[in-house]
Amino acid sequence: MGKLIIDGGARVSGEIRVQGAKNAVLPILAATVMADGESVIKNCPDLRDVDKTDLVLKRLGCGVNRENGIVTVDTRGMCDCRICEDLMREMRSSIIFLGAIISRCRRAVVSMPGGCPIGLRPIDLHLKALREMGVDIQEEHGYIKCTADVLRGSSIHLDFPSVGATENVMLAAVCAEGITTISNAAREPEIVDLGRFLTDMGAKVQGTGTSVITIEGVDRLHGAEHTIMPDRIVAATYLAASAITGGELCLRGVNPADMRAMLHVLKEMGVKLKCESDKIIQTAPERLKSVHTIRTLPYPGFPTDIQSPFMALTTMAKGTSVFVENIFENRFQHVDELTRMGADIKVEGRSAVVRGVKELQGANVVARELRGGAALVIAALAASGTTTISGTEFIDRGYENIEKYLQSCGAKIRRE
Ligand code: UD1
Repeated sequence: MGKLIIDGGARVSGEIRVQGAKNAVLPILAATVMADGESVIKNCPDLRDVDKTDLVLKRLGCGVNRENGIVTVDTRGMCDCRICEDLMREMRSSIIFLGAIISRCRRAVVSMPGGCPIGLRPIDLHLKALREMGVDIQEEHGYIKCTADVLRGSSIHLDFPSVGATENVMLAAVCAEGITTISNAAREPEIVDLGRFLTDMGAKVQGTGTSVITIEGVDRLHGAEHTIMPDRIVAATYLAASAITGGELCLRGVNPADMRAMLHVLKEMGVKLKCESDKIIQTAPERLKSVHTIRTLPYPGFPTDIQSPFMALTTMAKGTSVFVENIFENRFQHVDELTRMGADIKVEGRSAVVRGVKELQGANVVARELRGGAALVIAALAASGTTTISGTEFIDRGYENIEKYLQSCGAKIRRE
């Protein structure tokens, strides 16, 4: 919480070991409720959304122990199948518990989810798929009540490769009767990580990372041990933070193969990259070049989550860059704040045109959602003078100790 205060102009250079992925840890922690016994999840990032997930698990009756990034979940005392409204409102990904709880209890009651205000974010695809698997769903007074005497394996086609819907169906399918196929499934690396954990729990899952996932239902799952994959969005955010200041950065504990679309853009902007299996070394030029057009798309396309941090990067690049946001309808909320800092950005519908300026100036700005907040941090690192960012609770949803990592690389950033 509090405010982040950044004195711009210092080069961000050094080494960062990247945290575990928020978007992988949440569905994996939800999956632990399906185990008979104890699961041990390593490399869990220290984030507010993980605190909330921890609370959901405890309210369901699970024993949870969290120490040094290792979360141990013991499901033997699980006695509830409801998630109350206050927790559902705080975190959109709590909807992922739906598939896992139905799978275990054949009943689940959750309220409509909340989350960052980046768009309408309906859950129709989740509910349609679960209905096809035999779940009776009643939507009453903001609550979703689900019962399933029998969970049937089914052939599910998603109208859009939704990450959350793919995960929910996977969770519901692993202990369903028969075979489930998900076509037009999301291909994000976080889906592959979830598939790995489910397989280690005894599930039969094939095809994750492709558009068709096949799951053969099993009778029961056991607890398992798993290490969460690195956070590719956090990794790209730190690369952007270093690039905008002309710094040199070494990222460790990353998987460059999951980051191709983002690394491709960075190269187009003129940075030099050296990639090894779990390491990226980046050297940035004095001034970055603009990018022709960045279109956000489902994986392996350019991720919507890094659109705003990379927009911050282009504000000071030489030339004009264009962004087209195809995933969420309200993901340009950072534009007004970047404009306050002197950026030249015009938005029309789903497109934003950024004309690079020579200088940004420090200002008082407000983070209105997670990645838009990270964009403001990046801009502030290169701006002249001091920037004060409020709304840091959004940034803390996805970045573990952002100021600590950046300070260790020479940034003048502090929290008050
Ligand atoms: C996940 C990520 C989020 C990322 C997003 C897209 C987590 C915790 N969050 O969110 O960081 O930005 O993927 O990569 O993993 N949609 C529907 N109906 C549905 C479901 C989705 O219309 O039932 C629409 C959404 O409104 C959105 C698009 O599909 O426009 C993509 O959403 P989805 O892939 O489901 O994103 P999330 O799983 O919410």
